Amino acid sequence: MENKKFYITTAIAYASSKPHIGNTYEIVLADSIARYKRSKGYDVYFQTGTDEHGEKIQLKANEAGLSPQEHVDNISREIKKIWDVMNTSYDKFVRTTELHHKEVVGRIFEYLYQKGDIYLDNYMGLYCTPCESFWTESQLVNGKCPDCGREVTTRSEEAYFFKLSKYQEELVQYIESHPDFIQPVSRKNEMVNNFLKPGLQDLCVSRTSFDWGICVPFNDKHVVYVWLDALSNYITNIGYDINGGDENFKKWWPADLHLVGKDIIRFHTIYWPIILMALDLPLPKQIFGHPWLLYGNDKMSKSKGNIMYADDLVEMFGVDAVRYYVLHEIPFQNDGTISYELVMERINSDLANILGNLVNRTISMANKYFDGKIEYRETLESIDENLLESINSLESKVKSKMDHLEIGLAIDEIFDLLRKCNKYIDETMPWVLAKDETKKSRLETVLYHLLEALRVCAWELSPFLPETTESILNQIGLEDKESSFVHGHIYIVNDPYPLFQRIDIPKKLEELNKSEL
Ligand code: MSP
Repeated sequence: MENKKFYITTAIAYASSKPHIGNTYEIVLADSIARYKRSKGYDVYFQTGTDEHGEKIQLKANEAGLSPQEHVDNISREIKKIWDVMNTSYDKFVRTTELHHKEVVGRIFEYLYQKGDIYLDNYMGLYCTPCESFWTESQLVNGKCPDCGREVTTRSEEAYFFKLSKYQEELVQYIESHPDFIQPVSRKNEMVNNFLKPGLQDLCVSRTSFDWGICVPFNDKHVVYVWLDALSNYITNIGYDINGGDENFKKWWPADLHLVGKDIIRFHTIYWPIILMALDLPLPKQIFGHPWLLYGNDKMSKSKGNIMYADDLVEMFGVDAVRYYVLHEIPFQNDGTISYELVMERINSDLANILGNLVNRTISMANKYFDGKIEYRETLESIDENLLESINSLESKVKSKMDHLEIGLAIDEIFDLLRKCNKYIDETMPWVLAKDETKKSRLETVLYHLLEALRVCAWELSPFLPETTESILNQIGLEDKESSFVHGHIYIVNDPYPLFQRIDIPKKLEELNKSEL
């Protein structure tokens, strides 16, 4: 039987400046889901990349004294490097400046124009000539340009518009009849009540005030609106074309999951489905709007000086510590928060104390009492049965959380079992058993249970902390993927080494203050 397919995407990041840990969260989240699905036998295709057109990017390039292409080449490379530092297993890293994407977007625009869904009209707005920007009445500050404070004038400009209103009713019906389409459900209500119910205005989908974009093929005074360009990446890069697309496209589309931040859910749940409807294509199965990562209670921004970068964090704490922090600490619906102190507290309390200690104690005892070789001995007690039950139910507990994309809670399930193992050690007291030669086989059974728990936890942790999984499996010396307790293993453990070092937090904070990170 052919494996079930799973096509997952992240938003494509603006190639305007280096992404901070907040932007990086999304790729790690997507990676953990992609790895999880692969581990369950799905045929996964995981796409990410960079969004490289638009006025903002053109201005950034000017500031840097570079051509837009040189600028996006640099930033895109940097973004890809960070995605790699985070050990993310994407299958394709796309760029909107690639020729194939540009050509297909041009053809999509032309097709929609010929179909009558895109039409040429005049855009009327309040214009600030020095800033070359249009503003709406409500954006003005004391009736003047919010950027430079100068007078604005009414101006009309030729532009192409997309008839969103034509598809509005169909979209509302689709959303209402597909409860999983927009998740979490609070975001669905927000979209329907705030945007769809009041009625959709036709969308301006071309610009003439700058030229860093995809030219409208039949009118080169215009470039395609950057969101129409960017959203199309989800289909142009898997083989779509207006003739219907190739075999690869038919294999992967519709996407199973578009993972995006809550700020851009509107583009993905209104504009994107309407573009797809206009192209007669099926809609993605799910759009998940994840919450944000804040610094304390603030948005991260250069002007506030509170930006944290993933590569700096990885250099200090290691990749899995950073993955753990963002995956565990950002809840499913509400924003999460990060600071150096919080990251270090989590490393000490969860990764070093609960996980690292358990692995270390177990391996050390196996070496000390049995020269590293452990087999199952039949001296089962009720305390073992409790642990065994927890080991055997872990996979389904994790699955029930992952099915709803509750990643932090899935990780909690694994850590619950690790905590139980620590308690099991305290209660069985192997060091006492070791003093009594008649308890030797009981002692071996206790250690066997711990090793089985570690093996199963290691596999369950692999979507989230892939390097740590490898280290644990390497230390316990056994790689059987079976997700429940197996009686017939023979463990030959290796020498233990610490998975995560405890951090002296006050000392590290002082160092950080000095280095002004
Ligand atoms: N280029 C658009 C997306 C186009 S998709 C067809 C864009 N780029 S972005 O670089 O600004 O953002 C990339 C992703 O990072 C978005 O999903 C955005 O919501 C997310 N985040 C930006 N800041 C974030 C946090 N502080 N925390 C979590 N995610 C954040 O939008």
